[in-house]
Amino acid sequence: MAKKGAQASPVVVVFFMFMFLFFSFVVSDNAEELELLSFKSSIQDPSGFLSNWDSSASYCQWHGVTCNNLSHVDKLDLSAKNLSGKLVSSSILHLPFIQTLNLSNNQLYGEIPKDIFSSSSSSLRFLNLSNNNFTGQIPKGSIPGLEVLDLSNNMLSGKIPLEIGSFYGLKYLDLGGNVLVGEIPISISNITNLQFLTLASNQLNGPIPQELGKMKSLKWIYVGYNNLSGQIPEEIGTLTSLNHLDLVYNNLTGQIPSSLGNLSDLQYLFLYQNKLTGPIPNTIFGLKKLVSLDLSDNSLSGEISELVIHLQNLEILHLFGNSFTGKIPKALTALPRLQVLQLWSNRLSGEIPESLGRRNNLTILDLSTNNLTGRIPDGLCSSGRLFKLILFSNSLQGSIPKNLSTCTSLQRVRIQNNRLSGELSSEFTNLPLVYFLDVSNNYLSGNVGDQKWDMPSLEMLSLAGNRFSGKLPHSFGSQKIEVLDLSSSGFSGTIPRSFGSLTELMQLSLCGNKLMGEIPEELSSCKKLVSLDLSHNQLSGPIPTGFAEMPVLGQLDLSENQLSGEVPPQLGKMESLIQLNISHNHLQGSLPSTGAFLAINSSAVAGNDLCGGDESSGLPPCKKVKNWWFFVICSLGGLVLLTVAAIGFIFIRRGNNLELKRVESEDGIWELQFFDSNVSKSVTVDDITLSAKQVNGICRGKSFVVKEIKEVNSIPSSFWSEIKRLGKLQHPNIVNLIGTCRSDKGAYLVYEYIKGKLLSETLHSLTWEKRRKVAMGIAKALRFLHSHCSPSVIVGDMSPERVIIDGKDEPRLRVSLPGQLSVANKPFNCSAYVAPEARESKAMTEKSDIYGFGLILIELLTGKSPADAEYGEQHQSMVEWARYCYSDCHLDMWVDPMIKPGHASNVNQSQIVEAMNLALHCTAGDPMARPSSTDVSKTLQSAFQMTSCVPTLKFSSTV
Ligand SMILES: *[C@@H]1O[C@H](CO)[C@@H](O)[C@H](O)[C@H]1NC(C)=O
Ligand SMILES: *[C@@H]1O[C@H](CO)[C@@H](O)[C@H](O)[C@H]1NC(C)=O
Ligand SMILES: *[C@@H]1O[C@H](CO)[C@@H](O)[C@H](O)[C@H]1NC(C)=O
Ligand SMILES: *[C@@H]1O[C@H](CO)[C@@H](O)[C@H](O)[C@H]1NC(C)=O
Repeated sequence: MAKKGAQASPVVVVFFMFMFLFFSFVVSDNAEELELLSFKSSIQDPSGFLSNWDSSASYCQWHGVTCNNLSHVDKLDLSAKNLSGKLVSSSILHLPFIQTLNLSNNQLYGEIPKDIFSSSSSSLRFLNLSNNNFTGQIPKGSIPGLEVLDLSNNMLSGKIPLEIGSFYGLKYLDLGGNVLVGEIPISISNITNLQFLTLASNQLNGPIPQELGKMKSLKWIYVGYNNLSGQIPEEIGTLTSLNHLDLVYNNLTGQIPSSLGNLSDLQYLFLYQNKLTGPIPNTIFGLKKLVSLDLSDNSLSGEISELVIHLQNLEILHLFGNSFTGKIPKALTALPRLQVLQLWSNRLSGEIPESLGRRNNLTILDLSTNNLTGRIPDGLCSSGRLFKLILFSNSLQGSIPKNLSTCTSLQRVRIQNNRLSGELSSEFTNLPLVYFLDVSNNYLSGNVGDQKWDMPSLEMLSLAGNRFSGKLPHSFGSQKIEVLDLSSSGFSGTIPRSFGSLTELMQLSLCGNKLMGEIPEELSSCKKLVSLDLSHNQLSGPIPTGFAEMPVLGQLDLSENQLSGEVPPQLGKMESLIQLNISHNHLQGSLPSTGAFLAINSSAVAGNDLCGGDESSGLPPCKKVKNWWFFVICSLGGLVLLTVAAIGFIFIRRGNNLELKRVESEDGIWELQFFDSNVSKSVTVDDITLSAKQVNGICRGKSFVVKEIKEVNSIPSSFWSEIKRLGKLQHPNIVNLIGTCRSDKGAYLVYEYIKGKLLSETLHSLTWEKRRKVAMGIAKALRFLHSHCSPSVIVGDMSPERVIIDGKDEPRLRVSLPGQLSVANKPFNCSAYVAPEARESKAMTEKSDIYGFGLILIELLTGKSPADAEYGEQHQSMVEWARYCYSDCHLDMWVDPMIKPGHASNVNQSQIVEAMNLALHCTAGDPMARPSSTDVSKTLQSAFQMTSCVPTLKFSSTV
């Protein structure tokens, strides 16, 4: 047609050429130059880039201006020239022959001129206004010839205009990094030439339009960081040119469509941080060109298929933060380019494939917080590039493999909360680039103090909760250490003076070891120290006065040591100190009452020989010795007091001598015996017989409970001697027997009245801290009953019905009466708690008490009770179920949801795991395999002591 027209009228052509030349002459001489100058005058140019924009040279020579053959402005490139100001007029956009305008990376602001897209005849092909501070809406209109439109990283608001669909020529559209709202207009799918689409980082909502499926030229889709919802449209699977699909950080639901498997050119598939569910469709593993697959932080489930072997180009695989189960596929070991493998926070189990790393190119491996077992494979560092090794919170065992110890590329190593054992090899403590090393809460052993440490990059080190022996290392070969946690790790000896040279140190915890000697004054040279915990050791000598000179020290824990001398008064003048604990030492003298001592909790100063402080300290006031005669009078007074006390003591001893009282009443002669002299004065036979008829005997301010013994005359005398023995046993964790009262008409046992609830009623509402206290308290009571007295006292049918939780959350155990120990006499309705052998032999023993304790412990940990019917056909009993869970499932699967430890609290988690381990020992089928009550109590103490002691590291748990 065009050819035909040109042949038909040459005159017309000549005319048009003439007109063209005429206009270009007029325009170029004046209008274009004027437009440029007017633009210059409307903006600030502090860097002077536009300084040669004046009439001394032709505008074609001006900085940033490029002209075509006919001396018309063809391109204006003022990118990153530090220009600021408003674009008052759109005229430079309308320079008649301009094709390229780039004003990106300046500080232009205000609205984009409304008529910018109004002239559909505009010659513009390329418009880049990105990285400025433009506000307001995207102007309406269209330039059908525009190929590149980049308005990204401004502050544009409002909706994406529907007219966007009539930019038919666009190949590249970037509206990302604004504050656009509303839905993605369906009209956008009319831009069928579009190859690159970015709407990321806005506030768009609604669905991803299925019409995107019409945009067959698309190579990139990037709509992440919005609030898009609904499912991923299946139609995206028809965009076979797609190289890059990024829908991250939205609110997308449903399954990943299997149609995505048709995107045979796809190299990057990023769907992380959505709410996708279901399995990974197998078709995804057919995307042979995939370089990076990131589906992390969704709710995906199922197993990770061995089909992953087809992704031979894969370099990065992120599947963390989902609910994947099963094993880590062996096929991963055969991906030669695989560099980054992050599968953390799933429910993966089984072993790490043995050859992982050998034929890969690993740089980052993170498998933490799964339920992996077995050993750490030997070849993880075969690439020689591994720098992050994160395996914490699994159940890995065995030693740290030798090849990892020589992996000199390592920088960040977090293998805490496993069951690793063996020693840290000398190579391991000489890794040159490691800056973060956490091996805490394992079973590592050996004498690391005698070993050479040369880790010059080290900033954070935790060896806490292991079984090391010997002295603390003098140096770690690093001057950069900021956090040092060596708590609860079995160290002995003294605190090295050389720790004082760790100038960057901010947190130091040495608590729960067996450290002795004085606290070195040198520690106060650590001027950046914020938190210092030396508690639970055997440190002696004075509190260094130099501590008061530490400028940022906020937390100081010196409790449970043998420190002596006075509390340096300067400590009360430290402005930084907020939290202080000096309890349970041998400190004397007066407590300062200022600074951190103001309103100090009495428990933080208790267990010393201190006086003074302010009211909250709970300490007696200090008596000032004014002069000598005052002193003499005091001494004399003291003597008198002592004498009185001595007499009183003898008196009380006599009173305590369990004397029998005979009392006559209208019912006959009663024999009263009290085990607690306080009660004997205030309780009468009438009180007892009366309250036997009530539920709780509450009488004259004394509270007690009376239990009537039936058929008095058939009771053997051995019962009463046994009762007398019980009466002598008083312990804060048992319900103490305080007296008996008998005649030939009847007999009563008098117990202290505990205000509280049965454990069976209240267990489910207790926090982990309280449950811990309950477990510890019962263990202490058992230890007392079993080993304090000979022959030992058997509780009998241990069950949560036997435990009362008092007002202070302490458990109080009710001990069975002597006659009730023989199983024959008892209706075993709570028989679920009775050890199997006791059920058969009909005899209770210490070992059956331990069994019952084990069941209570399982109940405290899981919230389930042995009477529950839900263990199903697979597991005959709660014990069997617990045994299975402990070895085969993730902690989340069995721990009572009420006490589920958060992600951050690794300490709780390891306590729970250790307690469960103990519970399973206690419930061993073979009574001889069960620990003694002394062992139970010690194990619990050491498992739980960690908390009182291990500071929660302030380091982020992000990897
Ligand atoms: C961008 O514009 C906003 C709103 O007009 C203003 O508050 C902000 O300071 C500007 N930022 C820059 C870097 O000019
Ligand atoms: C998009 O194209 C369809 C037909 O293909 C047309 O009906 C519609 O009006 C177009 N929308 C825009 C905004 O151009
Ligand atoms: C995400 O989507 C769900 C359902 O599609 C909706 O209920 C929820 O409000 C959305 N969340 C946000 C933050 O928009
Ligand atoms: C291994 O990774 C490095 C970068 O870390 C890369 O340069 C090298 O080409 C990779 N080797 C293979 C076989 O992919």
